[in-house]
Amino acid sequence: MFITFEGGEGAGKSTQVKRAAERLRAMGRDVVETREPGGTAEAEAVRALLVSGDTARWTPEAEALLNYAARDSHLKAVIRPVLKRGAVVICDRFMDSTRAYQGYAGGCNMGLIDALEQGIVGATRPDVTLIFDLDPEVGLARAKARADAKAEDRYERKGLAFHRLLRDGFLDIAGKEPARCHVIDASQDVDGVAAQVWRVIGG
Ligand code: TMP
Repeated sequence: MFITFEGGEGAGKSTQVKRAAERLRAMGRDVVETREPGGTAEAEAVRALLVSGDTARWTPEAEALLNYAARDSHLKAVIRPVLKRGAVVICDRFMDSTRAYQGYAGGCNMGLIDALEQGIVGATRPDVTLIFDLDPEVGLARAKARADAKAEDRYERKGLAFHRLLRDGFLDIAGKEPARCHVIDASQDVDGVAAQVWRVIGG
């Protein structure tokens, strides 16, 4: 079972990944929590290039390639082996983030993203994806208040227009794949969001 958590900035995904993992473990499930870009030493090194520095340092195409270099490492070293042993993988961001951030919001050619998705993700598509939906003004304010805000804020600095396109992009993805994608109202409090998450993955 491969579960991904997606959405814009400050939507509370990381907190909910932890809560969902704990709840599944309490039911006796073997659960691995991981994140993108990241999850292996190589992918974390690529992450450092993406999340800091000048907002224009990479074109959306270069960002898609870097994210897919990290994703290739993560799929081979972590995601596929863990799924093979029968465990649950919960990943904080995955392929839909590339489509939303680089494609819908960044303007990267969707044909390139389709090709990367087919060639690198292939059959290892998530079984379930939770899309955390939140007004970007609220999300960006929350993200700014976070402790690690200064270190990893390259995307947060891209401005409100970018984050509005991002939100619409995620909702479009959800509309196109309703069997896989479930929209979560991330404006609720932590317990309210956790209850929505559990209604999707707890069955
Ligand atoms: P995080 O803040 O959720 O940990 O994610 C790091 C940043 O990387 C976040 O601003 C979203 C961005 N990102 C992309 O632009 N494309 C991707 O494919 C992924 C996985 C993340």
